[in-house]
Parts: sequence; C-alpha cells; structure tokens
Amino acid sequence: MSAPRKMFIKTFGCQMNVYDSERMTQALAARGFAETEVMEDADLIVLNTCHIREKAAEKVYSDLGRIRKLKQQRAAEGKDTVVTVAGCVAQAEGAEIARRAPVVDIVVGPQSYHRLGELLARSTVGARSIVETGFPEVDKFASLPQRATGKSPAAFLTVQEGCDKFCTFCVVPYTRGAEFSRPVADIEAEARQLARDGVRELTLLGQNVNAYHGAGRDGSSWSLARLIDQLADIEGIERLRYTTSHPRDLTDDLIEVHRRQPKLMPYLHLPVQSGADRILAAMNRRHTIGDYLSLVDRLRWARPDLALSTDIIVGFPGETEADFQASLDIVERVGFAQAYTFKYSARPGTPAATMPGQVAEDVKIDRLHRLQAALNQAQTLFNSHCVGRTLPVLFDRKGRKPGQLIGRSPYLQAVHAEADFSLFGRLLAVEIRSAGPNSLAGVIVQDGGTAQRSDASGDGCARLGLEDSEPAFFRRPAN
Ligand code: SAH
Ligand code: SF4
Ligand code: F3S
Repeated sequence: MSAPRKMFIKTFGCQMNVYDSERMTQALAARGFAETEVMEDADLIVLNTCHIREKAAEKVYSDLGRIRKLKQQRAAEGKDTVVTVAGCVAQAEGAEIARRAPVVDIVVGPQSYHRLGELLARSTVGARSIVETGFPEVDKFASLPQRATGKSPAAFLTVQEGCDKFCTFCVVPYTRGAEFSRPVADIEAEARQLARDGVRELTLLGQNVNAYHGAGRDGSSWSLARLIDQLADIEGIERLRYTTSHPRDLTDDLIEVHRRQPKLMPYLHLPVQSGADRILAAMNRRHTIGDYLSLVDRLRWARPDLALSTDIIVGFPGETEADFQASLDIVERVGFAQAYTFKYSARPGTPAATMPGQVAEDVKIDRLHRLQAALNQAQTLFNSHCVGRTLPVLFDRKGRKPGQLIGRSPYLQAVHAEADFSLFGRLLAVEIRSAGPNSLAGVIVQDGGTAQRSDASGDGCARLGLEDSEPAFFRRPAN
C-alpha cells in the first residue's frame, strides 16, 4: 500500500476535542500528512467523536455509512482509505465500533492518539481493525511534537483532563478517565510558543478546569488561580479564559483573580444543570442552588460586569413541573448572558440511565422550548445593553462578506465590523451599534491597545456606563 498522504479530520463535541484534533493533525503532519477539507480526497479519514448524548454518538454511525460508500468508490479507483474513529465514542465503545461498522480500520481513545502514526504504520487495509483505548502510563502530551503555529490569534490549551465528579448523567469520567493536571512548566512552554506564534488569547481547557492542581517547578501543587497569574505574565498574551468549571471547585483564590487580574476576561461558564435541589442531589452535583447563588454573588462582588454562562438539562429522571419551574427561576435570578440547554439523554452505564421516573420525550421537548425562550430573552437583553458602549474586540475570523471581520468581546460575544483583513489578529476598540440575540455589530474607533487598558476590572460598571436600569447580570448583589 502506498503511504497515505492527505488527511481529513472531522471534530464533534467539546473544545477539548477541537484541541485534540489540532494536536493530532500536527502529529500527523510530522509524518507527512497534509490536511484536506475534502473528504473524498483523503487517504486518511479521522472522526474525532463525542459520546455525551445519544444523538452525538449516533451521528458518527451515519457518517460511517457515507464513508463506507466513499471507501468503496475510492477502492474502485485503486486508492486506499484508512478510516479512524478517535475521541470519546472510541473510548466508550472500543471494538464494538468496528463490529458495527467494519469500514473502521483504527479505533483510538483520547489518551492514546499520540500513537496514531504508529497505529497507521501497523494498519493494513482489509485486515482486522486496531483498537487502542488504554490509559497509558506515558502521558500523551510528553509524546506529541511541539505545538506548531496556529492560524488564529485565539487558541485553546488543555491544562487538565478527566473528571472524578461522577454526575449520574455523565459519561465523561468513563471516556476521559480520572482527573489529571498537566505540570505548570509544560503548560507555560506551550503558552510561550503560542504567544511567539501570534496568539493573543488563551482559553485554558479542562473537563473540570478549576480542579486544576498541577505540579509547579518547585514540586508543590498549583491552583488554577496561580496558573492564570503565571500565564498572564507571558509577553504577547493579552487575554485569558478558562472552561469548564464546576461550582464545587470555584475557590476563593479563583474569585480573587477575577477581581484583580485584568487579563482574565469577565466571562465565566459555570454549569448549574438544574434549579431544583432535589434534582441536583439525584444528579450527584454536590452543590445546592443556595451554594450556586452565593457563588454568583461573590463573583459579582469581585467583578461586577462578569458575564455568566451555564448548562441546564431538562427532563432528568424524576424532574416534575415544579422542579422545571425552579430551573426557569434560576434563569430569571441569575440573568445568564449565554446558556446551553439539553434534553436529558440516557447514557448506557451511567446511574441515571436506570433511575425510575424517566421523562417522556414530548415533555422534554416542551420544557426545552420554554427554557430556551427564557434564556433567549436574557441573552438578547444582555447584548442590547452593550449598544452604545465601546468594547475591546480581538478579531479572529473573516466575516461572511468581503471587508468584514468577526471578533470576540471580553464577554465572548461575536462582534461584526467592517475591517480590512490587515486588522486580523488585532485587539481593537469597537463602538457597538447594534445587537442581535447571538451577536453584536459595531465600528472600529481606535486601537484597543492592551487588555490592561481596555479591561481594567476595577471600573467595570463605570466603563460600561451602567446605571439603575442595568440588568441583573451587571448588578452588584444587594449586600
Ligand atoms: N465538563 C463539563 C461537562 C461536559 S458535558 C462540566 O462539568 O460542566 C457538557 C454538558 O453536557 C454538561 O454540562 C451537561 O449539561 C450536558 N450533558 C452531559 N451529559 C448529558 C446527558 N446524559 N444528557 C443531557 N445532557 C448532558
Ligand atoms: Fe460530567 Fe459532572 Fe464531570 Fe462535568 S463534573 S464532566 S458533568 S461528571
Ligand atoms: Fe463529548 Fe468527550 Fe467532550 S464525550 S463533550 S467529546 S469530553
């Protein structure tokens, strides 16, 4: 077989899969593979999959159906195609994937993809598939080639992986394994490399990122707060974000960093999952609504303009209409700037899948629509309050029309502006002229300069010019 040269990679699921896909692509580039965006041209097809909900996992099998035909077509033209399933479905289902879809040559879990090049060398088209889903002793980060230049001024950086929380609905502790934090020195080296390559904004990733407890240079265990301060000192890095956090691990030192670290953006994704204590307990979330609201209060004392985002599940087993109303109440009370909503999906092997009181699909759909209506209102209100303000925007994407760029505000809103491509990658001040439910549009008014100048945390309200009419999410909690 002639060595495959073009690879096509499709990414499902969360930001960590986006990060993993980038690292896989770079590792394979070192072995002579060029990336293609046309699946039909690819000698190697990689599906980097997600197992979080049934729909996400099933999408993989429908793609594999199409790939089977493609592989046959290419074979008729005398071309080999190696099909790889990576990511969380690979980890959860292992050899079962190849049984159900014999088109698959290689199954590789999220902790083993640094070995993909080696597995490719071993794979022979037509032979039995190779399954690699162990949790190896040698960590993949140490085996991957150095991170190469990204195309964007904003990059993800995995600092923590895995989860020990075992929420009763969730597959992540099984697919990503036990909590693991990368050492500070490794993260810092990767961040410095990215900064040298033009990255201005780093989003630190972890399934449970605020449980970070990596080894510092002195061998002591560092918190996420300390890591953020360290990375903020890197020349060129103007903005830092982190995701996803668990309310249980949101420590005082992290709240304090939100108060005083100007490079830490005023946006926090803090999944609440439900507004009802009864359901939170059944979910094994280990926090109550009281705990969550108290955290929100403390965060807003520390950083009054903090934009909060969340995840909410509807139709968890046993959820009554009253429990659901409690989720609507929490939306009203917190005033989320952004939220992700999900219908509960029973996942094989998780405790909630066999709990009594599974909720009917039509009830889930109805609740989802009502919840989304409430959240859309909150989001539109949040965005509309930015009209007339001037916000620093990091331009990181081309717009749909020529002469347009899209960037991110400190609050993670997408901001559209007329801008020459030469401004790509710049952090500029933009006067916001209009707002929709999902994005803002504005006009560049000046060079936004550094994050320190534009995002000084102490004057959040003053800078935003917020008065009595401010929505809940900008308000300092009463006492
Ligand atoms: N690490 C993240 C969760 C990743 S999964 C965290 O702890 O927040 C992202 C979101 O998917 C979760 O927050 C949850 O809202 C949702 N989710 C996870 N399992 C689900 C399931 N079985 N059904 C529906 N939604 C689910
Ligand atoms: Fe899943 Fe819960 Fe862990 Fe988040 S904290 S990854 S929802 S088990
Ligand atoms: Fe999905 Fe795995 Fe991420 S299950 S959400 S890709 S950790």
